[in-house]
Amino acid sequence: MDFNLTEEHLMIKQAAKDFANAELLEGVIERDTNAIFPAKQIQQMGELGFMGMMTSEKYGGGGMDTMSYILAMEEICKIDSAAGVVMSVNNSLVCWGLDKYGTEAQKEKYLTPLASGKKIGAFALSEPEAGSDATKQRTTAVDMGDYYLLNGTKNWITSGKNASTYLVVAHTNPEKKHKGINAFIVEKGTPGFEIGAKEDKMGMRASDTHSLMFTDVKVPKENRIGDDGFGFKFAMNTLNGGRIGIAAQALGIAQGALDLAVKYAKERKAFGTEIGNHQAIAFKLSEMESKVQAARLLIYHAAWMKDQKKDFSHASAIAKYMAAETAMWVTTEAVQIHGGYGYVKEYHVERLMRDAKLTQIYEGTSEIQQIVISRGLLRD
Ligand code: CAA
Repeated sequence: MDFNLTEEHLMIKQAAKDFANAELLEGVIERDTNAIFPAKQIQQMGELGFMGMMTSEKYGGGGMDTMSYILAMEEICKIDSAAGVVMSVNNSLVCWGLDKYGTEAQKEKYLTPLASGKKIGAFALSEPEAGSDATKQRTTAVDMGDYYLLNGTKNWITSGKNASTYLVVAHTNPEKKHKGINAFIVEKGTPGFEIGAKEDKMGMRASDTHSLMFTDVKVPKENRIGDDGFGFKFAMNTLNGGRIGIAAQALGIAQGALDLAVKYAKERKAFGTEIGNHQAIAFKLSEMESKVQAARLLIYHAAWMKDQKKDFSHASAIAKYMAAETAMWVTTEAVQIHGGYGYVKEYHVERLMRDAKLTQIYEGTSEIQQIVISRGLLRD
């Protein structure tokens, strides 16, 4: 077992850290308050190679491993997890899914601009009545010969308006249950495809989350991903990787809050000494550090499993579950350590706490991760 990061890993981590401090920190509170999409910063992230890190170089990506990706995710999300979620969905749900399961033509046409950061991708699985219970897709895609006719509504879609390319999951053959589901590439601007209102979210407010409406949208046959009926497996396999990215996001949020809490505990004085000298605070900090390190090791393990081409679904669910729970707990403690200052925007920790909540909800709630974990345990 080697716990050392390679030279390349260290360089990527440092590059992401430098970028986050130089370009994301300034304005992060204003973008959050006013729900302003970090368009300029996402473009810069594309130019620096952060939007298609694991995609083959042949298709405009970085050809890097999952470990590189999660190291960068953590650094970006320490500062701005709204930019982080745009990066995460583009990298692990859209680019990874297309790279692994797309045809050569799909990769050339759609993956290359996404992986090089020229375009942004979105992943549309959730529906008003199919969030956790993802097999109950109401969106339909009727086979019309050389195209599919898509009808339905998708909800809570990250980058819903700012994306150009959407991976949309729909039922083609409801009698076949989850084996009758397909995933399609749908382009923005296709007639009948409308973008609904933006959600006014509690956290990660600078990323845009929308509903999507499809009314008799003609999707060319060649835009189906994989064989007929592969859509549910596509979504599950892709989400397994996505969950490692969200775990790394949660880790960044937790580490960011811990760093701020340590800094504050060394500066703020009460009862004649820095508050870190009081056991009430020192015990909190030590528990925060221990939980953050435990989450980090689980994430590294899940990333390693994926890079070793082992079945990583169990490991990714554990990593996501523990990292999201850790982020929520650590950020709440960070607010507590800051006292009244923690409750105002200027000190960042209240935003990190709001952002942490979302990591327990999207790409599968904590309860969904528990289902995946327990089924893995009980299966054999
Ligand atoms: N990996 C691979 N395959 C999986 C899988 C996994 N994690 N989970 C289930 N499957 C497969 C099963 O093996 C089974 O395949 P077979 O028929 O070949 O045996 C098939 O999928 C159906 O499985 P189940 O019978 O277990 O299905 P279920 O309905 O009981 O439960 C579930 C499945 C795990 C609960 C699944 O519905 C799920 O993960 N739900 C959560 C969905 C989710 O994460 N949504 C997030 C939306 S994306 C998002 O948030 C994007 C964004 O913008 C940020």
